[in-house]
Amino acid sequence: MFGTKDHLRAEGGDLTIDGVDVVDLADVFGTPLYVTSERRLRENARAYRKAFPEAEIYFAVKANGNLAILRILAEEGLGADVFSAGELNLVRMAGMAMDKILFNGNSKSLEELEMAVEAKVRVSADSRDELLNLSEVASEMGEVAEVAFRVNPDVSAMTHPKIATGLKTSKFGIPWQEIVEVYRTAMGLEGVKPIGLHCHIGSQILDVAPFVDAAAKMMELAGEIVDIGGEIEMMDFGGGLGIAYAPETRAPTPDELAAGILPVFLEGCKRLGISPQMVLEPGRSIVADSTLFVTGVNVVKRAHVNFVGVDGGFNLLARPMLYDAYHHAVVANKMDQEAVGKYTVVGPICESGDVLARDRDLPEVERGDVLAILDAGAYGFSMASVYNGQPRCPEVLVNGGRAELIRRGEDESAFLAGQIVPARLLR
Ligand code: LLP
Repeated sequence: MFGTKDHLRAEGGDLTIDGVDVVDLADVFGTPLYVTSERRLRENARAYRKAFPEAEIYFAVKANGNLAILRILAEEGLGADVFSAGELNLVRMAGMAMDKILFNGNSKSLEELEMAVEAKVRVSADSRDELLNLSEVASEMGEVAEVAFRVNPDVSAMTHPKIATGLKTSKFGIPWQEIVEVYRTAMGLEGVKPIGLHCHIGSQILDVAPFVDAAAKMMELAGEIVDIGGEIEMMDFGGGLGIAYAPETRAPTPDELAAGILPVFLEGCKRLGISPQMVLEPGRSIVADSTLFVTGVNVVKRAHVNFVGVDGGFNLLARPMLYDAYHHAVVANKMDQEAVGKYTVVGPICESGDVLARDRDLPEVERGDVLAILDAGAYGFSMASVYNGQPRCPEVLVNGGRAELIRRGEDESAFLAGQIVPARLLR
């Protein structure tokens, strides 16, 4: 019923996740609610480790910053791609090894660079200016920071324009034509040790070909760096592998990605006589399909379409609103019922764009029903906000038939936090 997602089943009319009834979870923890399968998460991580046995897998923390989830991924031997001081703190708390972290970002502050140097994590420099900042910061601290360079390879990947990052028009990375010069500069600077190249061409990419193109470009550039006497200890090919959000979509597996890029990497290394550490930075393909977003139906309204008003909207799952993203939706308490018509699932937020799922064939939906939105583990909770005075919801982890709370739901204090009313206004 759910393709390769064998952690999801229909049992006795209800949806289950790893054998735990989703309707029961909604009763116990309330809705809205995020629910993650630990087994699925571990399987996804292992699929990467198996496909790339020699590579380091750095989980992209922006996809999911839950500490319990990061802890599980650390147990599976993954490191992390962090994009801010906040994310670096998270992975440190999750017990990830600092030598398996890459500090990414296109506009890091001096404080963030200082923190990276102090933590002895490698930095990916996104511009010449950032290289200079890092060199100054590290020299002042009497340290030498290992630095890789984010290449903009100008590779086109068919994906939503807001999540394509490898085009020359994107804000990310150093244009590939300038990489060798920047590397040369780095080789003469104090406080930095250039160690390699990094790229990330975009997200939700459903074709292996652009990854192969980018890998070939990266190996070509590595060759030019070797020619000027530079050392290449690390080659990071980024994340971006897509997943099958819609039932009819087919997404490449980590094995298929490996079949595409490993030969390019290995042949390139052989040709150049180098043996760098290969790194990948998957986010979505590790965590997305492990997690459901569970919402309760407040109202059903028959207007020009049938609206299902649920208790969580783009405040908690922004992807449909931001990228017109498709997320499959099912009625978790009516899994044995046939579809009777089209429904449009909308959240409680005061914006017309707050639509989670449009024109879906569903069984008859009534107030009190429980809807599950699939594949919500990546860029779901991590992009949630408290817009419209809606506190963020709890997260639950399912493992071996048990459900454990891994994040408490917020209350009103979430949107009061940090606010100050000057005394003069209290008179
Ligand atoms: N590495 C870097 C440098 C990145 O910028 C990203 C994602 C990744 C790795 C992980 O990419 P993934 O494997 O998850 O595709 N909010 C959007 C996606 C934004 C991606 C940002 N960068 C969405 O919900 O589709």
